[in-house]
Amino acid sequence: MMKLVEGMSAVVTGGASGLGKASAQALADAGLKVTIFDVNEEAGEAHARAIGGTFARVDITDEQSVAEGFERARSAYGQERVTVHCAMTSRRGKTLGWDKESGAYKRLATEDYAFGAEGILVSSYRIASHSALGMANSEPLNEDGERGAIVLTASVAAQDGQIGQVIYGSCKAGVNGLVLPMARDLMDVGIRVNSVMPGIFATPLMLGMKDRNPQMWDQLNASVPFPKRLGEPEEFASLILEIARNSYINGHQFRLDGAIRMPPK
Ligand SMILES: NC(=O)c1ccc[n+]([C@@H]2O[C@H](COP(=O)([O-])OP(=O)(O)OC[C@H]3O[C@@H](n4cnc5c(N)ncnc54)[C@H](O)[C@@H]3O)[C@@H](O)[C@H]2O)c1
Repeated sequence: MMKLVEGMSAVVTGGASGLGKASAQALADAGLKVTIFDVNEEAGEAHARAIGGTFARVDITDEQSVAEGFERARSAYGQERVTVHCAMTSRRGKTLGWDKESGAYKRLATEDYAFGAEGILVSSYRIASHSALGMANSEPLNEDGERGAIVLTASVAAQDGQIGQVIYGSCKAGVNGLVLPMARDLMDVGIRVNSVMPGIFATPLMLGMKDRNPQMWDQLNASVPFPKRLGEPEEFASLILEIARNSYINGHQFRLDGAIRMPPK
């Protein structure tokens, strides 16, 4: 086991909200010192304060910003041994959409695709590889020669991409694709790499719908086989903790979804 000991350093991206916020909380509850990377300074700083951690304003799409964020985290709490990457930024759209004005099909711009590829896939590589470099240069934590654990966030859309999710679905599939080759690349330095594919979770994004469209909210809850509700961010965080401490979990992609399989739309 990779013991999560008091004072161990962790980094959580997107830790100001939703799944990242719950993960940061759970790691802090386990005794870890957490640095939150986020672009939302107000919420990030408030949560960092609440969990006795540190906030670093980091834009995951910016190489220098990420490098500086890791420097900041390491100078505050030492080398991070757990990195949880939740932040992402993307765009929506169908490959071909009907443009009412021109009365013709319009192609989703390559630029839109590239934006999501950067905000989801390239950023995942950036966070994981920067963290791995620091971990590789640290002392092993146990007899296995383990140095740390990296958890990336994909989505069930990686496997069940819906209409309008050509960018999100394929880039999240790319995140899953990073996992095994990266775990193999890092085997000699004892760093594990895994991903989680959440189903539908009750984060601010989704909770907004509850007030806007209660009928759709009820349908969404009913669409989950069991339990018949959205996932709680704490349930995501609980899996993060198990992945972090269980040394034998490596190179794996977990669905966490109440058995939901997303339909085409
Ligand atoms: N909530 C769900 O139902 C669900 C389902 C499947 C996958 N996911 C994945 O889980 C992850 C977290 O989702 P969430 O629902 O908690 O989202 P959220 O919107 O609640 O939180 C995302 C956080 O990322 C931050 N962020 C956005 N762009 C950033 C950037 N460029 N640099 C740094 N931080 C940035 C935001 O400020 C925010 O605090 C995402 O990768 C998402 O794709 C969520």
